[in-house]
Amino acid sequence: MSSPLFTPFQAGALRLANRVVMAPLTRNRAPGGLPNDLMVEYYRQRASAGLIITEGTAITPQGQGYADVPGLYSTEQLDGWRKVTRAVHEAGGRIVTQLWHVGRVSHVDLQPHHALPLAPSAIRAHTKTVLIRDGVPTFVETSPPRALDLEEIPGIVRDYAHAARFAIDAGFDGVEIHGANGYLVDQFLKTGSNQRHDDYGGPIPNRARFALEVVRAVADAVGADRTGIRLSPVTPANDVQDAHPQPLFEYLVRHLAPLGLAYIHVIEGATGGARVLEDRPFDYDALRTAWRSHGGTGAWMVNNGYDRALAEQALAQGADLVAFGRPFIANPDLVERLRRGGPFNTPERATFYGGGAHGYTDYPALADAG
Ligand code: FNR
Repeated sequence: MSSPLFTPFQAGALRLANRVVMAPLTRNRAPGGLPNDLMVEYYRQRASAGLIITEGTAITPQGQGYADVPGLYSTEQLDGWRKVTRAVHEAGGRIVTQLWHVGRVSHVDLQPHHALPLAPSAIRAHTKTVLIRDGVPTFVETSPPRALDLEEIPGIVRDYAHAARFAIDAGFDGVEIHGANGYLVDQFLKTGSNQRHDDYGGPIPNRARFALEVVRAVADAVGADRTGIRLSPVTPANDVQDAHPQPLFEYLVRHLAPLGLAYIHVIEGATGGARVLEDRPFDYDALRTAWRSHGGTGAWMVNNGYDRALAEQALAQGADLVAFGRPFIANPDLVERLRRGGPFNTPERATFYGGGAHGYTDYPALADAG
């Protein structure tokens, strides 16, 4: 039976062949921060997704928080990404990159000159990052951060715009601003990580200021219709929380709505965990209504724990696109497998972060399975 999941969709300037999106997935296979041939193969294999969102990609060396993640601030990196985007386009796909500044979720060993990671406030995240020690991926506690000076903030906003321009030069169809999962944008948004007393802290409009400045700068640089943002209103990922997430995120999407963005991407619940959190209730329908009623015309993309049935239900209830994470790790031809109702390969956790081709480019497609 035909399903709306496999119908085309226009998200801003992005013409997508179907509604199945590959969620951003950090895989720590870019030594030196450089996209390489193995990554070209990995993304090429997944080009039947309506849209690929790359793994989080550091906008600056300071924005880096994990070993062997790629960046988008040097011409060498740009040249590496050009091979990825060319391969995906030749295979008929669309691809945007996820612009990532980790803020406090980093370690001095990953920072230039072993400096302290940057954050809205000097509040340490009780979470872990990955370093490679003696060739082995090792989880370590993040370092205590330093609070950004007010005068430093405009430069960081410019860094996002610069990386966005690089992304378009590298052949990406657009960019996704990583505003989720407790990284820099989310750290500014939420009370648990932002205790500033200047224009970027305190009341909701102040905490939302950084996110809105970043989005406007990126949209000015590459076009709002090629810009999306990922949000996670209540995820506990990377030790973030907000006292009142519903009014915070409704304020944010109301102010994003008139900008003409390609899409809003919302992680429902705890990233990779429960979709409904008893201690952190959230009304996602109200969030979408706030966006639409204030002129939001781009796509509404949802994520977290989706399968085909749940995805079809979301589309019936007003979502436009559904992002799948772990299923895409293990199923390069996920779209075809969803279409047929399976079977699905099982993702192997041990090879999620770091390593080589095993658990990365060697999951079979249906045709390979015979
Ligand atoms: C992730 N996730 C993630 N999210 C993000 O915004 N940027 C990233 O770089 C990553 N990296 C990442 C790596 C790995 C190995 C996993 C498993 C997850 C979160 C991911 O995009 C998604 O939100 C969750 O996996 C939930 O979706 P699924 O897997 O239930 O479809």
